[in-house]
Amino acid sequence: MKKQLRINKMKIPSEKFLPHESAELHVTGKAVYVNDMEPCGQTLFGKVVSSPYAHANIIKCDVSKAKLLHGVPAVLTYKDIPGENQMGPVFHDEPCLAEKEVTAIGQAVVLIAAENEEIALEAEKLIEITYQQLNPILDIKSAIKADNKIAPTRKIELGDTKKAFLKSEHIITGELETGAQEHWYLETQSALCVPGEGSEMTVYASSQNPAETQAIVAEVLGVSNKEVVCEVKRMGGGFGGKETQGNHVAAWAALMANVTRKPVLIHLFRDDDQKNTGKRHPFHSTYKIGFDNDGKILAYQVDLNADAGHTADLSMAILERAMLHAENSYFIPNVLITATAWRTNHFSNTAFRGFGGPQGIAVIEHAIDRIARFLKKDATEIRLKNFYTEKKNNITPYHQKVDNVRNQVIYDKLVKSSDYFRRKKEIDAFNQKHEFVKKGISLTPIKFGISFTTAFLNQAGALVNIYRDGSVLVNHGGTEMGQGLNTKMLQVAASELGIPAEQIKVNATNTSKVPNTSATAASSGSDLNGAAVKNAIDKLKSRLSEVACGLLTEKFSGGKFSKTRIEFSDNHVFDKNFEALKLPFTELIDKAYYKQVSLSATGFYKTPDIFFDREKGTGKPFHYFAYGMAVSEVEVDVLTGSHKLSRVDILHDVGDSLNKPIDMGQVCGAFIQGVGWVTTEEIKWDESGRLLTASPDTYKIPTVQDIPEIFNVQLLENAANYNTIRKSKAVGEPPFMLAFSVWMALRYAVSAVGGHTKDPDLAIPATNEKIMLAVEKIKK
Ligand code: MTE
Ligand code: MOS
Repeated sequence: MKKQLRINKMKIPSEKFLPHESAELHVTGKAVYVNDMEPCGQTLFGKVVSSPYAHANIIKCDVSKAKLLHGVPAVLTYKDIPGENQMGPVFHDEPCLAEKEVTAIGQAVVLIAAENEEIALEAEKLIEITYQQLNPILDIKSAIKADNKIAPTRKIELGDTKKAFLKSEHIITGELETGAQEHWYLETQSALCVPGEGSEMTVYASSQNPAETQAIVAEVLGVSNKEVVCEVKRMGGGFGGKETQGNHVAAWAALMANVTRKPVLIHLFRDDDQKNTGKRHPFHSTYKIGFDNDGKILAYQVDLNADAGHTADLSMAILERAMLHAENSYFIPNVLITATAWRTNHFSNTAFRGFGGPQGIAVIEHAIDRIARFLKKDATEIRLKNFYTEKKNNITPYHQKVDNVRNQVIYDKLVKSSDYFRRKKEIDAFNQKHEFVKKGISLTPIKFGISFTTAFLNQAGALVNIYRDGSVLVNHGGTEMGQGLNTKMLQVAASELGIPAEQIKVNATNTSKVPNTSATAASSGSDLNGAAVKNAIDKLKSRLSEVACGLLTEKFSGGKFSKTRIEFSDNHVFDKNFEALKLPFTELIDKAYYKQVSLSATGFYKTPDIFFDREKGTGKPFHYFAYGMAVSEVEVDVLTGSHKLSRVDILHDVGDSLNKPIDMGQVCGAFIQGVGWVTTEEIKWDESGRLLTASPDTYKIPTVQDIPEIFNVQLLENAANYNTIRKSKAVGEPPFMLAFSVWMALRYAVSAVGGHTKDPDLAIPATNEKIMLAVEKIKK
């Protein structure tokens, strides 16, 4: 495998097998992260003193003793903030440092800049804060009781559910809880801030959103954005956890660097990171679903409730995506979706792969699973019966028409390759014979909308520089977090310029190179930035074509060359009509320089044609959809609740893949991360809101042991997308939700204990303990 990748790398730059540009640096430990940077040997250690209470008034906060400690150049409270005491990304409801009240455990109160960690911890002990504890709200039900909404309830509606329920042969009602999830990026939240001349501040951040980090740092410092540069080389994982919350450490480090005039580094300890940062939103949802004897769904009503935590953060956008995925891959003619984000006293929950999509989809999959059991039919048949199709049954609840529907083609191929129906029969026979071990199998689909649902965010920029030696530096607005965006941008540049990847470098993301960018999120990094990079290169090629035409005419007099026919390929340029008469790329660049032609260009892209009216709940929020399906088989030990994932078959649609190994990595990684969420990752708080699962010994993320014994992953072939960079599709988030097949297979196995007569009480996460309890309940 490795050999093959190498060969491809050497041979064809535009090939789809280029290894991750940092692969070797990653595995040799040479990749540089924020914590590895050492600007001048005088970097101060930044320590955040945070609230130990979920809700309290601050009666007294005395930092005078800590300030006297030797080796502590600064101890800051909100009073020391020169700008605005705010770091709320959408709503201004999130103080940078608490003033009179704390509303979550982990909320920052005091900042300490010390010469080293020991001194910082010493200083922390000298800080006297007196709290008066107040009653916290720690779950959705209590927040509902207190009517503690982040914003008014939202609604999306299609057809007439009231009428449709009256006509439905059967109606099922239900509720579902889905749990929180810790991001567990390998690199914890980090920022290094280096003060410059006057008001200048350089922020080396681990942020998915450098432009926002820049803006928030400027805001707390009380300076304009032009004084602040934010640079992101790479993140050791983000998964949504650094879409807004990478801003926090940056703002705190900047405040300390500004006062001390020295570089300040904050790099959270793992357990602090787990305790004091937001997670995937837990949801509590209720639903009602009407269907006929064949399992055709006529009406679906769902009420989604999210635990936002103590501030809005991205909760309303996350809620919106949950609503926009409430029907998953199914056409339902009458739908009513309502959704509310509730303010609680947990730390603010935030973006996490899928961005609310998983929470919305979980509910409809739960409902369909129950319809199948009720009708004594195979759940896969019910799913098939309700799929969106190309010509009819293609209107979403938000009135966007679904086109290029890939449900049927994926279903047909996957049912065959996974041998679903035969294995299902075998499993049923096995379950008849075995009392203490039960098997389960399930096929679940995913349809995921690609674009930011806040339409204006769908824009990106790039800056491409060609240097005199013919080497190329690509700057774009996206950030690298392991997902391979920089590799894909390298490939786009290489194939557009027709030069080897080795001649190109993708620069660290930098707000002074490409301004006003959106977060690298919503899986749209390569769609948006790829198109912006191409746009910059198109401009360069247009200038260079003119030069090339002149040079070709000079060199090969006689040919009738045209600048409109100039091609860039194989490290050369030539007129399409005279392919044999070529100029080397580097020669062209050198000559272009002497002819005083600019070798640098900016690029821009905005997704065409998308909009969404939040009031009406209608529009075309998505540029297109990504599709995929998975079949998972599990084996459950009925006595202990432990299970094993015996086989998984995935067929996923990434359009015309930009890079197959990277896309495969994304599909496998997202799926396994989803498996963690639906099975082992359980977040528990005590009754005062303290996180009980703040380290890997109490919080179980998947390990290599959790990879299925048989893991067949395929990318859909001949799946070119329309109107996207090189006909590709976004891949980062959609496969996360393929893990519902594991949850559903577990439900099937538990249901087998009762001969499939009773619904298993098994929500998300389906931990061993929960499986055991569900088994006991079914036996009663
Ligand atoms: N893959 C790795 N290795 N690390 C990450 O942090 N984040 C995911 C996904 N894949 C992530 C990842 C999330 S939440 C998103 S939105 C996308 O990558 C963002 O990158 P993209 O838009 O370039 O796909
Ligand atoms: Mo991804 S949750 O959109 O950062």
